[in-house]
Amino acid sequence: MEHFIHVLPKVELHLHIEGTLEPELMFELAERNQIPLPYDSVESLRNAYEFDDLQSFLDLYYQGAAVLLTRQDFYDLTWAYMKRCQDQHVVHTEIFFDPQSHTSRGVAMEDVIIGIHDALQQAEQEFGITSHLILCFLRHLSEEDALATLNAALPYRSMFIGVGLDSSEKGHPPEKFARVFDKARSLGFKRVAHAGEEGPAAYIRTAVDVLGVDRVDHGVRCTEDDNLVDDLIASRMPLTVCPLSNIKLKVFSDIKEHNIRSLLHQGACVTVNSDDPAYFGGYIEENFKAVQDGLGMTNEELARLSLNAVEASFMTMERKAMISRNIIFLLHACQIRPD
Ligand code: HPA
Ligand code: ZN
Repeated sequence: MEHFIHVLPKVELHLHIEGTLEPELMFELAERNQIPLPYDSVESLRNAYEFDDLQSFLDLYYQGAAVLLTRQDFYDLTWAYMKRCQDQHVVHTEIFFDPQSHTSRGVAMEDVIIGIHDALQQAEQEFGITSHLILCFLRHLSEEDALATLNAALPYRSMFIGVGLDSSEKGHPPEKFARVFDKARSLGFKRVAHAGEEGPAAYIRTAVDVLGVDRVDHGVRCTEDDNLVDDLIASRMPLTVCPLSNIKLKVFSDIKEHNIRSLLHQGACVTVNSDDPAYFGGYIEENFKAVQDGLGMTNEELARLSLNAVEASFMTMERKAMISRNIIFLLHACQIRPD
């Protein structure tokens, strides 16, 4: 079973590149850039990764991201993640980045985007892993700030496929960003938004209806509104679920309480993702293992989660068809000779 998860071709759709900053690299970059860290060792930093809720995590996440200064730093961060993708059979990944948490510290937009982009290009050449970048707006900041950020990124528009919305959810509903998402739509960008992680089901509704999103990030609180669940299922609206993140941030008290399996059985387009793996205790493979162990998911169900991610991705139809075939082939091969 573990072998099946390892070799299963996987597609990641909810991954914050700043959330892949492992403590070892954080210390290395802090030293390289002469930025003091309020921890005396990698162990004491790792020990601080106990969270009560989303905000307690975000406070550490932004503090950690402050060691990223140069184009090389963004390249190194992204390259380290792409090597993990290669190790874990991730064949395609769609990556979030938070430019406002860097430009507000004086880092040039160009260094952020080109640093990440260069590593993605190299991973495609060396590993054959395809990818897209998604520019996220920080929802605790104003819509004007988000508009200015989109404008500043437009010279590099060929390097990102869409826009997203992340950071502190409660009190910052999707509709606060209606105009900037309208602008992104008119420019031809894909749109996604975090909704229904800590915020109410109503935020999922407005992410879909007002922002016109192609996917909902998290979305697990949809089950508080039966009509919403029916609509999400009928429209095959993808939900990019992050099981280990939900446990670490106490969205669910235990993996056994998680609703991903029930949503899958009802016909929802749910997918498995790692969110901020350096902070939440695992990359995509560990997230698949968590739902397999905690919810008793079968190989067939795990393959369906991966097929959903292919369907929900922004890759070409040809690549979707090829990866889907490989997933189904593997499932059949394992059914003939279960390991
Ligand atoms: N939720 C909201 N914002 C975030 C997250 C998350 O899980 N990770 C990084 N930014
Ligand atoms: Zn997220």
